[in-house]
Amino acid sequence: MSIQKPRGMEDVLPGESWRWQRVEAVFRDLAERYGYREIRTPLVEATELFERGVGGGTDVVEKEMYTFLDPAGRSLTLRPEGTAGAVRAFVEHHLDQEPGPLKLYYVAAPMFRYERPQAGRQRQFYQFGVEVLGAAEAAVDAEVIGLGVRFLRELGVEGVRVELNSIGDESCRPRYREALLDYYRPLRGQLCEDCRRRLERNPLRLLDCKVDRELAAGAPPVRDALCAACAAHYEEVRRLLGALGVEVVENPRLVRGLDYYTRTVFELVSDRLGAQNAVLSGGRYDRLAEQLGGPPTPGIGFAGGMERLLALLPGGAPRGAEEERPDVFVALVEPGRVAEALAAAERLRAAGLRAECELSGRSLRAQMRYASKRRFRLALLVGGEEWARGEATLRDLDGGRQASLPRGRLEEALARLEARRARPRAAPAGELRRLLAAADGERGEGDGDDS
Ligand code: HAM
Repeated sequence: MSIQKPRGMEDVLPGESWRWQRVEAVFRDLAERYGYREIRTPLVEATELFERGVGGGTDVVEKEMYTFLDPAGRSLTLRPEGTAGAVRAFVEHHLDQEPGPLKLYYVAAPMFRYERPQAGRQRQFYQFGVEVLGAAEAAVDAEVIGLGVRFLRELGVEGVRVELNSIGDESCRPRYREALLDYYRPLRGQLCEDCRRRLERNPLRLLDCKVDRELAAGAPPVRDALCAACAAHYEEVRRLLGALGVEVVENPRLVRGLDYYTRTVFELVSDRLGAQNAVLSGGRYDRLAEQLGGPPTPGIGFAGGMERLLALLPGGAPRGAEEERPDVFVALVEPGRVAEALAAAERLRAAGLRAECELSGRSLRAQMRYASKRRFRLALLVGGEEWARGEATLRDLDGGRQASLPRGRLEEALARLEARRARPRAAPAGELRRLLAAADGERGEGDGDDS
């Protein structure tokens, strides 16, 4: 019998991987426009990192980790999320010494959770995300949430709402915990099995119960229990999001499933995703660096699920599918010209074109069938009379038009393309610098101060 992939894990096949690449490229570009730099951390970390960081009482750590002993007997875990590893790296490499705040992003990052597979929930899934370390201000919360919103907008995803809450910090959470216990203890008999288990350990999680939402609806809202500083922070986040034009829905039951959160928590949710409706989620974690043995460093970030995001993309595909098409198929009219065909394909690639060369000895008809199925834009025919005369024959595979031209002219065009590729991207900042220089010139003429 043939071997199959593990349950809850998916192959991304060539017909869909380009969609992933596009989304990843948009995220990378956007994160860099906001000043984030990429971090890549190991897929495997010491188990203790997640026990301490994510929290021993969470579902993720209690039930969902792929944990194993390595040959030397160390307990290692396939990472279930990216924040703990990023903060571990921050502490380990003393990144607090860099000019801060430190803004990190990751993309195409596989995560592993041993959950029951269902729509929107895999055992291996991919996250993109950002983490900001070293800034406690509400403005960071607003910018981070704004980045998530802009990302979805740039991809054309609609119908996503931002849910926002604050879960307080160590000064107000104990009081809130007591209030929750007072509310839930008399209701113990009505709680689901999971909630009964969580009640004393982590009563906040009961607000998130998927089995019985009514009980949670009657619980005291965390907002009423916030200390003055947390309440002010929350208000400021809301105000700044308003100023950015980001609409939020306040969700007093939003608590998130990981223990490191303090103050702001948020999720970008879509009703089109079914039960697993969060496409992107995150929050503040002002104590995490300390908990992992580092200097006290506030932090905030989010991660999004690639599979869920791809499910939301308009028309199932990101814009620009046309751009993914390969450019030129180098067809072999005579088998004896294979060396020239290989060289022609190399030349096209050097000029920046996506070119493939016939390698499998098919008839010209079969080659053309392949080229049109793979949606090549053009074919370059190598061999035949024209080729022998020093010409190149190009066929437009969209319109069907075909013509021959001296190969020297093709080479000139390719050389131009290659030169254009070699030029660095025109820096948009140059435009602003010219504006500055012009304005400075005007001022200089007006007030005589051109120093
Ligand atoms: P999380 O809510 O556990 O948070 O996961 C973030 C996102 O990953 C979710 O919104 C969802 O889109 C996706 N996701 C989670 N589990 C699965 C799964 N089993 N299958 C498919 N997609 C899934 C975190 O991981 C935090 N580290 C986020 C964060 C970053 N907070 C601060 N910084």
